[in-house]
Amino acid sequence: MMQHLLTLRDLTPSQVNEILIHATELKARLRAGDRAPLLPGRVLTQVFEKPSLRTRVSFESAIGQLGGYGIFLTGKEAGLEGRESNADVARVLGGYSDVIALRTFSQELIELFAAESGCHVINALSDASHPCQALTDILTMREAFGDVTGRTLTYVGDGNNVAVSLATICAQLDITFVIASPDGYQLDESLLEDLRREYPGARLSQSADPHAAVKEADVIYTDVWASMGQESEKSAREKIFADYQCNAALMSSAPKQAKFLHCLPARRGLEVTDEVIDGPQSLAFPQAENRMHLAKGVLAWLLDAS
Ligand code: CP
Ligand code: NVA
Repeated sequence: MMQHLLTLRDLTPSQVNEILIHATELKARLRAGDRAPLLPGRVLTQVFEKPSLRTRVSFESAIGQLGGYGIFLTGKEAGLEGRESNADVARVLGGYSDVIALRTFSQELIELFAAESGCHVINALSDASHPCQALTDILTMREAFGDVTGRTLTYVGDGNNVAVSLATICAQLDITFVIASPDGYQLDESLLEDLRREYPGARLSQSADPHAAVKEADVIYTDVWASMGQESEKSAREKIFADYQCNAALMSSAPKQAKFLHCLPARRGLEVTDEVIDGPQSLAFPQAENRMHLAKGVLAWLLDAS
């Protein structure tokens, strides 16, 4: 069966580890000057319905460094806005590509591509999840802490696509996941119950109190309060989330050695202050670089190159 990366829940914890190991090895090889073209001639087509800096460029750099070739199309250019059926777009692109990475609103469109394209499909962010980001975040935590088993990741902010993928990967890898969000913006309790059932022993909890939530944190994580597609809610959300800003006061409620992560893009002065994202505890920019190493790990793992 063709292997995809549609959501983290499609992967076993050991497959998650395999991807992370590939990424770590490829990062070390690049650092040592080894740019072996492991995927010569392979074609990665990216189709994005939403903006992107990190995901788009990290995947394009990744396939280029591995000796392959990257193509980028907006959803409109690909014809996803009605020029032909989405299934026909998937079938045609599948004929040219070894891998298709999609950034979409609907998770269903990603699943349709997996069903119809005949090639590997990667979720490059949907409204429902952002698996490549969460994999990158664990890669970054491993670099900071070594073994991450038993560590605590506290996410402060909106229970969005990034939070869903982080909760999932923490459940898979035995990391404690705590989320602090205002009422109405928390993760679905049913998701947490499903994860607890699927990964016995998973430690997942949510509260409305950010200061209490960060007390035992090894990592404090935040993301934008209004995700792509929620622009019309931006000013209402700024009021609702005002007490959830990652600032010096919040960091002082956490252990001193805690690290700060942000998937970026950041809205400085909203979900995070300059002093935190630019401060000594922040790993936000090494984390952003790791998107590329992780992308190489995913591509090598999917295409079984090494
Ligand atoms: N973190 C992330 O996915 O960034 P982009 O939206 O720039 O790809
Ligand atoms: N939650 C954000 C993540 C951006 C990388 C969004 O979906 O816009």
